[in-house]
Amino acid sequence: MYIEEAKNFVGQEVEVKGWLYNSRSSGKILFMIIRDGTGLMQVVASKSDVSEEVFNNAKKLPQESSLTMRGIIHEEKRAPGGYEIIVNDLNILQQTENYPISPKEHGVGFLMDNRHLWLRSKRQWAILRIRSGIEKSLRDFFDSKSFTLVDAPILTPNACEGSTTLFETDYFGTPAFLSQSGQLYMEAACMALGKVYCFGPTFRAEKSKTRRHLMEFWMLEPEVAYITFEENLKLQEDMVTYVVKYILANYRNEFEIIERDVKPLQKIDTPFPRLHYRDAIGLLRKKGKDIHFGDDFGADDETLLAEEFERPVFVHHFPASIKAFYMQPDPGDPETVLAADLLAPEGYGEIIGGSQRINDYDLLLKRMKDNKLSVDDYKWYLDLRRYGSVPHGGFGIGLERTLAWIAKLPHVRETIPFPRLLEKIYP
Ligand code: 4AD
Ligand code: MG
Repeated sequence: MYIEEAKNFVGQEVEVKGWLYNSRSSGKILFMIIRDGTGLMQVVASKSDVSEEVFNNAKKLPQESSLTMRGIIHEEKRAPGGYEIIVNDLNILQQTENYPISPKEHGVGFLMDNRHLWLRSKRQWAILRIRSGIEKSLRDFFDSKSFTLVDAPILTPNACEGSTTLFETDYFGTPAFLSQSGQLYMEAACMALGKVYCFGPTFRAEKSKTRRHLMEFWMLEPEVAYITFEENLKLQEDMVTYVVKYILANYRNEFEIIERDVKPLQKIDTPFPRLHYRDAIGLLRKKGKDIHFGDDFGADDETLLAEEFERPVFVHHFPASIKAFYMQPDPGDPETVLAADLLAPEGYGEIIGGSQRINDYDLLLKRMKDNKLSVDDYKWYLDLRRYGSVPHGGFGIGLERTLAWIAKLPHVRETIPFPRLLEKIYP
């Protein structure tokens, strides 16, 4: 039996296989908390029910020892999860010695060096479960709208999001780069399959040591042929609302473990407010910031903007000069592009970046030359504007930043099982 199934086994004898999380004894009774990956459960061993040898061995057992046991499941309101097992047989697989992570507080550096063990803690367990739920609900959302999942390559010959943050590697004598984004490939795929998305790891050699930056992060990137800018924003707000509602409905226990106040999440619903970049600049200036048209937002600017709203807010129509080469200028205001960032509430900043893509061959070529990109490397990308070019657009949602917001975590390092941070790749 797995611990999460305990409610189906009340009164029955079962076998549980797991690890010791915690224990305390009161002379003749030993209370252990066991974890098996699906949850925590109280295990009661009483001197009268098991052999003296078993009782004495179990009593000295250190945290994280592995063990299996047999016993009867009982309802017990006071136990974590509401059930306990009264044990009649217990088998120790390995008695752990000197497990480095004790229930006392540890520094972050120490925990990060022991990330492979830290994952076993209740808090990390809860966070990784929510991460898995976000991934599932994102995929469910797009699958239910008959998008096709198309996997983008990781090894790529060219940049998508600027050449300054590329991880370079050697591909049989020619330079290749770890993908910054699957977008360009999704643009090709949406011309074949209409509505597509990719979901995979992406890489940015960003020399940033902030609570929002990872060198390796996961991004889901939809791309849709014939979509309008307005339809693109609608897709994003429907998606985020769907995910938040799904997580609220299915991860109550995990939210309790990490002590996330879910009230702000309960307010998330469509439509999301929209803020024109020019108005955002005005708002920031009113709040005392010395910022002008053409400046990009820093993390604190994003927080100042987002705190005006209870829902995520779209900032749209950024200046072309601070955005990617492929973004479509607004025909009525060509200094700006049809692009939007979605800023999450509670100080989490940008979780989505999206745009309409340039579908005109000559304009795209000009923008590539302006950005000093080597046109030869992008011949295939330009081909998409030669053979049945159509308006299209999409976006990328960063999984870790979305999880950091939903779980209200102080830093993205806890959002991914093995974070790759600035100059840190162990374990
Ligand atoms: O805004 P970005 O750079 O957009 C793109 O890559 C587009 N090609 C997406 C598209 O239109 N298909 O990145 C999108 C999102 C950000 O909003 C953020 O959530 C996340 O990816 N992100 C990062 N997350 C963690 N660490 C980093 N260094 C990140 N860089 C971007
Ligand atoms: Mg962005």
